[in-house]
Amino acid sequence: MQKKQAPIGIYDSGVGGLTVWLALRQLINEDLIYYGDTAHVPYGDKSRDQILLYSHNIIHFLEEKKVLAVVAACNTSSALALPVVRVSSGMPIFGVIEPAVEKAIASTRNNRVGIIATVGTVNSGSYQRSFQQFAPSTEVFAQGCPKLVPLIERGEVEGLLVNQALHEYLDSLIDWGMDTLVLGCTHYPFLLPAIKRIVGEHISIVDPAWQTAKNVYDWLQGLPNVEEHEVPSYQFWVSGSPEEFQKRASQFLGFTLAQVGGHNQVELEPRELRDFLGQLWPAWRGDQDDSMEK
Ligand code: DGL
Repeated sequence: MQKKQAPIGIYDSGVGGLTVWLALRQLINEDLIYYGDTAHVPYGDKSRDQILLYSHNIIHFLEEKKVLAVVAACNTSSALALPVVRVSSGMPIFGVIEPAVEKAIASTRNNRVGIIATVGTVNSGSYQRSFQQFAPSTEVFAQGCPKLVPLIERGEVEGLLVNQALHEYLDSLIDWGMDTLVLGCTHYPFLLPAIKRIVGEHISIVDPAWQTAKNVYDWLQGLPNVEEHEVPSYQFWVSGSPEEFQKRASQFLGFTLAQVGGHNQVELEPRELRDFLGQLWPAWRGDQDDSMEK
């Protein structure tokens, strides 16, 4: 496979986006720059303004690294920030929600789709709107799962706490009769064995990673090749502890990441944050207004 002229940026709040990174690494032969915002994980309980700031900062960081496009390998950022940051960035930015919805629509037979996601993603209504737009006859049951990301970031993907939390979130979806379950947070594929034991064999599980990577692949096909048969390089950056990220990533990927760089982000007080966002996006009107999410 041939290579394009610049790397692809990928970001998430932590290790979750590595599920998308894995799919990208398999499907495309490009340099990849991953950013894990581990100083701010979890994103799921943060306000839309905070998610906007974090997403903006990361995209800016990746722009400075001269990436060709960005993959928001995070449902919470895709739901809360992408409609806004896409307007201000000149680059293509791929999200994970539409690929997940596309796969779920293709998979469901009884039109009952369960979604597990962060509270921020569920409350944004992004999944619900997307199903409404592409398959209005689909019934959707979206369940916020605030306990899961902290467990995964601590490396706990099996055991009593994981099973208890999964039962708390999945039992009502199973009773409701879903035949398809969307993993609406990129961290959750790391829980796949535990989730499969609970939902059984008759419920299809949708992980948007592969479809997201496929969308990037298709887009790359339209660009000219500049080099041939180059071995791609992979960089990792985090806003928290590089050692912690390296440890967790090795646990989940089964190999050690060569080098993880540290990057400090500017922190803003709520008032400064409002002023900053207002300057960036003149149409932005604060956390209570959801008009820009549509
Ligand atoms: N992995 C992210 C998502 O897909 C972020 C989860 C979090 O940090 O709460 O939503």
